[in-house]
Amino acid sequence: MSIFSRCSLATWALLLLSCDAQQPSKDWCATGIEVPDFKEDGGTPSVEVFVVQSPLFSTNPHIGKKLAWLNLYHTAMVFRQEVTGAEPRNWTVEFDSVTNVLGAILPKIQNETLTWNNDARYCVTPGILWGEAHWSKMFDLALELTSAQARQIFTEFVPSVNRTSHHSRPLYQLWRVVSRESEETLVKDITCGDGINWILHFASSQLGVRVKAGFELKFTSIVFHADRLDQVDVGGEQWPDVVKYFRGMIHVTASQQTALERLLDMLLLLPVHYVYDGNAKAGLWAHEKALLESGLLTEVSHRGASSILLQLVLQAPCLGCLEPPSLPPEEEGGPAEEEGEPGEVEDLVRIYRHMTDRECSFLRECGTLPNTQPYQTIVEGDEGFEYCKKYFCGKKKVSPPVSSIVEFMCPRVLVDRLFAMQWKIEDGARSHGLGDKGGKGLPLFNEALESGAISWRIVFVKRPRK
Ligand SMILES: *[C@@H]1O[C@H](CO)[C@@H](O)[C@H](O)[C@H]1NC(C)=O
Ligand SMILES: *[C@@H]1O[C@H](CO)[C@@H](O)[C@H](O)[C@H]1NC(C)=O
Ligand SMILES: *[C@@H]1O[C@H](CO)[C@@H](O)[C@H](O)[C@H]1NC(C)=O
Repeated sequence: MSIFSRCSLATWALLLLSCDAQQPSKDWCATGIEVPDFKEDGGTPSVEVFVVQSPLFSTNPHIGKKLAWLNLYHTAMVFRQEVTGAEPRNWTVEFDSVTNVLGAILPKIQNETLTWNNDARYCVTPGILWGEAHWSKMFDLALELTSAQARQIFTEFVPSVNRTSHHSRPLYQLWRVVSRESEETLVKDITCGDGINWILHFASSQLGVRVKAGFELKFTSIVFHADRLDQVDVGGEQWPDVVKYFRGMIHVTASQQTALERLLDMLLLLPVHYVYDGNAKAGLWAHEKALLESGLLTEVSHRGASSILLQLVLQAPCLGCLEPPSLPPEEEGGPAEEEGEPGEVEDLVRIYRHMTDRECSFLRECGTLPNTQPYQTIVEGDEGFEYCKKYFCGKKKVSPPVSSIVEFMCPRVLVDRLFAMQWKIEDGARSHGLGDKGGKGLPLFNEALESGAISWRIVFVKRPRK
């Protein structure tokens, strides 16, 4: 499938910036309460806590227990207090999306705006929700608590999760995305089981109550493997594709099929292409963080600024100062202050290109430049770097927006050859267009990239700070 091929641009992407949020659906947790009225037990444990599971969506009559075939289960908790001389009393605790699962993984789309309603919150209802028989997969005793301990769960722990404002963490995340290569989790899922797990963790770490011997919590995870994950900025270059993708998903789930078929389409047929990860923080991409941590790039933006700017060497206190990066020490090119063509080492020339995320991802992934840009400017030396920076400080505009400047160390002969094919003056810099609308030098340039004659590195990055 093309989305998994290494050099495809259409890899999985991650939407990091939050979009407008819908309000929770009206009837979600309509009969919910905050704290069960446990009877005092004088410190003798009287509350049994069961972890219960049922096939996912089995409250939907069209689906019933069929999703058990897929090993998909809903996990919840039942608190039961034994009261002498009376019937035991029960409460059900669920942690779930405030809409339904489909509502949590599909946005509402209005024009180009995606609106999410995927808060994950606790709902506590008196009694055993849907009756004990509903929880056919599992009904296992996990904890025994005193009434005071049980109350602490609802007065200390649950509000800490539940009272965050609308559309802030935790947000429901059905898919877990895992690196195909390293098995590292790239996007963590947050589903009903997590909420139950957090309560068990609170009981053991804060209340000092161990789970019952032999109790084991297993819950459903839907795992997707990805070669890599790229961020997509809202309104950015890939945004129309994102909107189209979610429109397609909504179309599939709105078709005339039965609810089960629609769910199966969602869960089995769909290639998950874009994932909205509301729990993640925006900012630098992983490779940019690595460049920052290794000291290869330095942050040159102010802490409170709305953008994060990274540059090769800390010279400019702010973007407006537009200092060129100096040469790395190993290249012994001397300080990059002279006019003319500084920074040349023997027959290598510094060439710069400002890039969109899509182009830069292609370069990182494939080692060559994509043939998708009609003109594809390259510019030389410090004046070229200055020229590229104009796209980051509002002096020049380009759509879709650019996020990185890449420096290429190119053989002089190749650069001369390219500029002999075509060049023009743009804003004080001599530029060559690698693309079809320019000098058509891309094949030569890519050949040199592939053979190693050209090396490259990212020397400037601009990202919105969340
Ligand atoms: C958690 O928050 C939701 C949404 O605001 C609310 O409906 C629910 O009753 C709350 N649960 C508890 C246990 O307070
Ligand atoms: C609580 O659950 C137990 C076990 O299902 C049941 O016997 C009991 O009647 C329930 N209590 C109430 C008040 O419904
Ligand atoms: C969506 O687009 C239509 C037509 O272009 C416009 O009339 C409408 O105001 C837009 N709605 C929103 C919410 O932006």
